[in-house]
Amino acid sequence: MKQSLYFFILVMIIGCQIAEPPKNPVISFNQKWKFITGDRDVYKSPEFDDSEWMDIEMDKIWEQQGYDPYDGYAWFRTRIVIPSYLKDNSFLQDSLRIFLGKINNFDQSFLNGFIIGVNGKNMPADAVLDTNFIHAPTNYWDLERRYTLSADDPRILWDRENVFAIRVYDEGGQGGMYTGNQELSMTSVMEYLKFDNNNQPFDFEGQNLSKSFSIKNNSKSLTLNGYFTIEARGKLDEGELYHLNENLTLSPGESKSYHLVIRQLEQSAKITYGFDFEDANQSIILEEESPYMLTPIPGQEPQINGPGIYGARPGNPFLYAIPASGLRPMTYQVEGLPKGLKLNKNNGIITGSIKKTGIYDVILKVENDLGKDQKSFQIVIGDKIALTPPLGWNSWNCWGLSVDTEKAIASAKMFKQKGLADHGWSYINLDDGWEIPKDQEPKRDPSGKILTNEKFPDMKALGDSIHVLGLKFGIYSSPGPYTCGGYTASYQHELQDAQSFADWGVDYLKYDWCSYEQIANDHSLSELKKPYFLMRDCLDKVNRDIVYSLCQYGMGEVWTWGEEVGGNLWRTTGDITDTWESLSSIGFGQVGNAPYAGPGHWNDPDMLIVGWVGWGPNLHPTRLTPDEQYTHISLWSLLSAPMLIGCDLERLDAFTLNLLTNDEVLAVHQDILGKQAIPVIKTETMQVWVKELAGGNKAVGIFNLGDQTEKFNLLAEQIGINGTANIHDLWRQRDVGSFGSAKTFLVPSHGVVLIKVIP
Ligand code: GLA
Repeated sequence: MKQSLYFFILVMIIGCQIAEPPKNPVISFNQKWKFITGDRDVYKSPEFDDSEWMDIEMDKIWEQQGYDPYDGYAWFRTRIVIPSYLKDNSFLQDSLRIFLGKINNFDQSFLNGFIIGVNGKNMPADAVLDTNFIHAPTNYWDLERRYTLSADDPRILWDRENVFAIRVYDEGGQGGMYTGNQELSMTSVMEYLKFDNNNQPFDFEGQNLSKSFSIKNNSKSLTLNGYFTIEARGKLDEGELYHLNENLTLSPGESKSYHLVIRQLEQSAKITYGFDFEDANQSIILEEESPYMLTPIPGQEPQINGPGIYGARPGNPFLYAIPASGLRPMTYQVEGLPKGLKLNKNNGIITGSIKKTGIYDVILKVENDLGKDQKSFQIVIGDKIALTPPLGWNSWNCWGLSVDTEKAIASAKMFKQKGLADHGWSYINLDDGWEIPKDQEPKRDPSGKILTNEKFPDMKALGDSIHVLGLKFGIYSSPGPYTCGGYTASYQHELQDAQSFADWGVDYLKYDWCSYEQIANDHSLSELKKPYFLMRDCLDKVNRDIVYSLCQYGMGEVWTWGEEVGGNLWRTTGDITDTWESLSSIGFGQVGNAPYAGPGHWNDPDMLIVGWVGWGPNLHPTRLTPDEQYTHISLWSLLSAPMLIGCDLERLDAFTLNLLTNDEVLAVHQDILGKQAIPVIKTETMQVWVKELAGGNKAVGIFNLGDQTEKFNLLAEQIGINGTANIHDLWRQRDVGSFGSAKTFLVPSHGVVLIKVIP
């Protein structure tokens, strides 16, 4: 089996040795910026007097600086002398690099009145300018703006004052230039050397892990000389796994490939690639961490997975597919199946409808050539659904607005083919991008019924093809006139849309505030609740169990009233992205909202960022390291947070599949008590989170947020254990001893040890 993964942390360390005069200088210009909302052409002009504009800090969104909520156009301006020593003291002296940080969402950037770049792309001075730049993919807010001008470009005024004017358009939510660290420097020799390790994934080959890696000179004229090294060491034990060093000369355009083979361990290998440039006094170091699989490969004997409980409303269509792993064919049986339900013995799909409320205790049974398994299961017919947090897939973090019917169907098929459905993953959710765009007519038929765009010719058929696999179908809309992506939404058509969703067989609705911002009078609690109450009423009228997912980024502490408006889950934060900063600030920020989570109502810190993600047509492997991904799944499981995979399932690799199909970890996520973990220890680098499980056990996550491996001594009493308790490693699925009064755990940086403690 040839499977692969890659992921990497990219750490470019630019070794700049400061001598006299400074070599390769960098000038910071993130101070003294001026700001105004609105949009006038004259703002780009160097002569314009901006002295009346307000001062703005460059490392905060404008909402945090008195402009909440402001969406639309705004301008940033600053003046700076660009000294010629920048050029004179650089090695190459050929081009000026202008780094503007990240911009939420879109930009047209001007230097001395001339355009230099649009949304991260360099522009010639005579480029035609229009407002099209505001129709770029929504994930551009996460894109670094680096613009480059040739040193002799007349747009640069060397040794004189230069005026930068940045026209920003915020299409919704947070806005502005927000990362700080604006810098000017000359292009360096390092920019011509490209290390390509990212799209050459690791292959798991028996006991080994291998990958191809290439290094290329992208310059058309320069020969690059230097010293190249590769070193791989165990991340925990630092044992050497691989070493190479050599003198390397690359002529213009030349590349060289390497093949790295290392032993597979129960830890990442830290791989360091380094190139020291001869003469240039500069070096590039790139580090990455290799994947390692912890979930034992499941046997072929039958095993029933998934939750121990499932809720449905009386009289509504019922659909539950028994998740079971093991050799096929498999036959299914349910002892005590209530009246109104029917089981397909060959695929384990239960359908029908139950009229009478009540708790029905049944026994699920499966059998294949190698054996049998059975599991007690409760069907609860009442007014509650989503009794355990949803597990599924959503199109947004991979396809963004480029989602189409084929991609949704492919995801559903992959859930079956790759076996994710056997471990309880069941929702296939369309996010934004299925409706008619803002600038297209008609958006609705003459009766007001919502229309779909050409990529979704038949929603009912799409729903059917998902259901036939035993999976559930989810959709997305907004209470405002338009969605965040600028597509038609449900404002003033709420009941009609709820009816359409029900007609199409929708089982899950994500309802995203977005353009309701223009409708709401303010952010008072009653205004925040109003559109969610309204859609709740409509969903109640359509006789279908539709999981109701509130998305309004946590405004008004939504966790305190999400259940009151009938939500089954609610986003507690802004959008996640595939970086450690985003993951850790969102994940470890889920403090204080635990009391509001429980069966039928969950805090949602946003969707998963493992596998190939991208928020648009072009995907990349997640930028999280394997340890960060273990942290992600462990933390979300402890938090009882809904888990919606956001990657291209057709490109699911061995590591990601292994990560997502650990039944013991998923059992913590699906625990029927439905508690959300709380942090019991927080030091500068370490955090311990505890989740109470049904039956008196505890799931405990020992997280290392620091940059070094930690030996962490956990006292039993710190996690509420008096006396002895057995310890079971959930990822490795094995017992690892017991607590006396304390136990020491070795925790990789940005990683986790996830245990079950059995008193
Ligand atoms: C908002 C939401 C995202 C996604 C997009 C769609 O940003 O927070 O999760 O649904 O809208 O446009």
